[in-house]
Amino acid sequence: MKISAPKGTRDILPAEMYKWHRAAKTFADVCHMYGYEEIRIPTFEDTNLFQRGVGDTTDVVQKEMYTFDDKGGRSITLRPEGTAGVVRSFIENGMTSMPSPVRMFYDITAFRYENVQKGRYREFHQFGLEAFGSEGPKIDVEIISIVNVFFNKMGLKHIALHINSIGCPKCRAAYNEILKDHFRPHMDSMCDDCKNRFERNPLRMIDCKADAEKDIVKNAPRLIDHLCDECREHFEGVKKGLEQIGIDYTIDPNIVRGLDYYTRTVFEFVSENVGTQGTICGGGRYDGLVESVGGPHVPGIGFAMGVERFLMEAEAQEVPFEKPDYVKVYFAGMSDAASAFVAKTCYELRSEGVGCEQDLCGRAFRAQMKYAGKAGIPYLVVVGDDELASGKVKVKKMEDGSETEVAVSELVSYCKNNL
Ligand code: HAM
Repeated sequence: MKISAPKGTRDILPAEMYKWHRAAKTFADVCHMYGYEEIRIPTFEDTNLFQRGVGDTTDVVQKEMYTFDDKGGRSITLRPEGTAGVVRSFIENGMTSMPSPVRMFYDITAFRYENVQKGRYREFHQFGLEAFGSEGPKIDVEIISIVNVFFNKMGLKHIALHINSIGCPKCRAAYNEILKDHFRPHMDSMCDDCKNRFERNPLRMIDCKADAEKDIVKNAPRLIDHLCDECREHFEGVKKGLEQIGIDYTIDPNIVRGLDYYTRTVFEFVSENVGTQGTICGGGRYDGLVESVGGPHVPGIGFAMGVERFLMEAEAQEVPFEKPDYVKVYFAGMSDAASAFVAKTCYELRSEGVGCEQDLCGRAFRAQMKYAGKAGIPYLVVVGDDELASGKVKVKKMEDGSETEVAVSELVSYCKNNL
């Protein structure tokens, strides 16, 4: 029986890995530059965390979680996102008493049982960050700027930033009543999920995938028109801050986000290149989440970027990714004595940080040349008994065929300093 990768998963093959490394390193560098430090959280958590954190009226929790009982009878869920786990860790590890803001970034896999399509997988990767303890709009602006700096450093051109405010529990409660008045006469035509959402979380009805095309959804009152004074002021602060540093944005009242923890600012970076799954990065503020996961009242904000979608966008924009030459030099040994010399030289060079290869398959000289050429190794050194006797080898640059004669005794330091 042929076994294939499970639906919605994909192998990231060695040939494309350098792109992932470059993106991950650039993201980490940018986060470090802003004062963030990396956190690693578990791949699976207690199911309650996501029910309480992400929200049990969301599609993610209701339909998409990989949940199972472990052998000890605990209900376990593969993380569908990173925020809930970081919040749990923030509380559990006493980080609530650290000086604010406490800032962390992560590079994770996440799992959602979704309908698979271009840019939508069941196992996917996210670069994300979370910042705790800062209430004002300044940090909202700063984390949005992190995404822009990352895109700039990766060489991506403009990707549209959409922002919205979805208010606080106070303005949300008043708005929910307005929304219910709007939907009430039309409930017969709504999907079963929305019938359930009507009482529990009417805001979710605006985000319903099944009912999205209905006029009643499209014409629904917008939360941004019903913000309380504090939330309106906060949103004005975010807009002003973005303008101050020159970041363009569009206000998109339809962004409600697919997870329940958001308050006030929500935002998405959207591209047309990734097809229907155009949201490369999404995030926002979650001022009540720490409390609802059992901690004190600490405001929070963050975002996550879909790495697969980011790389699709980079490819569509033809962003050049330089493939690093990890292996700089190939040593072809033409006799037993030469092979012994090559093995020792390779060992010394690698210890000095110079990547190199030797034959490991008993290939004849010609086959070794062919291998080195195919692998694209930029320098070649042929070592035979003559070279060992004369104490000199030639280091050949494959690009132009030029050769430099080097004393065998100097070979390691020559390679270290010149290749
Ligand atoms: P999210 O919008 O659910 O937010 O996911 C963030 C990003 O992950 C999306 O914009 C998308 O690029 C990518 N993504 C989501 N689902 C899939 C999928 N099935 N296949 C491929 N890529 C996907 C969150 O996860 C929040 N935790 C973000 C956040 C952090 N908010 C505050 N802090």
